[in-house]
Amino acid sequence: MTALLTVDRVVKRYGGLAAVDGVSFTLGAGDVLGLIGPNGSGKTTLLGILAGTHDPTSGTVTLDGRVCSGRGAHRAVHAGIARTFQTTRLFGGWTLREALRLARRENRRPADVASDERIAALLALDGLLDRPCTSLTSAAQRLAMIALALATGPRVLLLDEPAVGMDTAESAALARAVRDVADDLGVAVVVVDHNMHFLMPLADSVLVMASGTVLATGTPAQIRADEAVIASYLGET
Ligand SMILES: Nc1ncnc2c1ncn2[C@@H]1O[C@H](COP(=O)(O)OP(=O)(O)O)[C@@H](O)[C@H]1O
Ligand SMILES: [Mg+2]
Repeated sequence: MTALLTVDRVVKRYGGLAAVDGVSFTLGAGDVLGLIGPNGSGKTTLLGILAGTHDPTSGTVTLDGRVCSGRGAHRAVHAGIARTFQTTRLFGGWTLREALRLARRENRRPADVASDERIAALLALDGLLDRPCTSLTSAAQRLAMIALALATGPRVLLLDEPAVGMDTAESAALARAVRDVADDLGVAVVVVDHNMHFLMPLADSVLVMASGTVLATGTPAQIRADEAVIASYLGET
């Protein structure tokens, strides 16, 4: 497998605290990586480095062999890394189609971007394109946030706790949608979530963080059976 995304010995220090302390991994097109770990273990900071909003203290993130870390969020988006946020940020009274049109302006590779209809179909938002975003259910609003990220034409999609507040049926629908995005668009996905019922069936591999370091990586089955992971994290859930 040729790596699409390579994270190489990334460190982020805040004074004496290493929020991320030497994290490395690679992802191929269409891979879904689950990122788990206790609160404060560095997950959001790592996503920020991937998204370009945080500069690493050392180490690099490369996409298709080009360094994209430490160059700001716009450069990361233009390189093909898109993220959603833990809170839903919406576009006033705009329809989803109008919001998608604005998000498309961030894309520098128009040929790569799926149509509004294809994005809506992948995310089970069919028929909702011409509704104001604010009229959607909260679960649909979260899917709409992913739709906006996809409209920037990403190669890598970063999702920070996308299933928070969803019931079982909603989170299962979200997992199907994320799987379809990875499989059909070949987008690599990094997804942080505390809900193991959501994350474990979805992820191809799981990376467990503890105090900024990688405690374990493996398939979901390997991670569930890992004594150190159970002791530090899964025992709590
Ligand atoms: N801007 C910041 N300044 C100082 N410390 C920070 C900052 N952002 C995060 N941290 C610290 O870095 C550690 C990792 O935080 P975070 O990445 O948010 O963890 P997680 O998302 O896994 O809960 C925590 O100890 C947090 O307090
Ligand atoms: Mg976090």
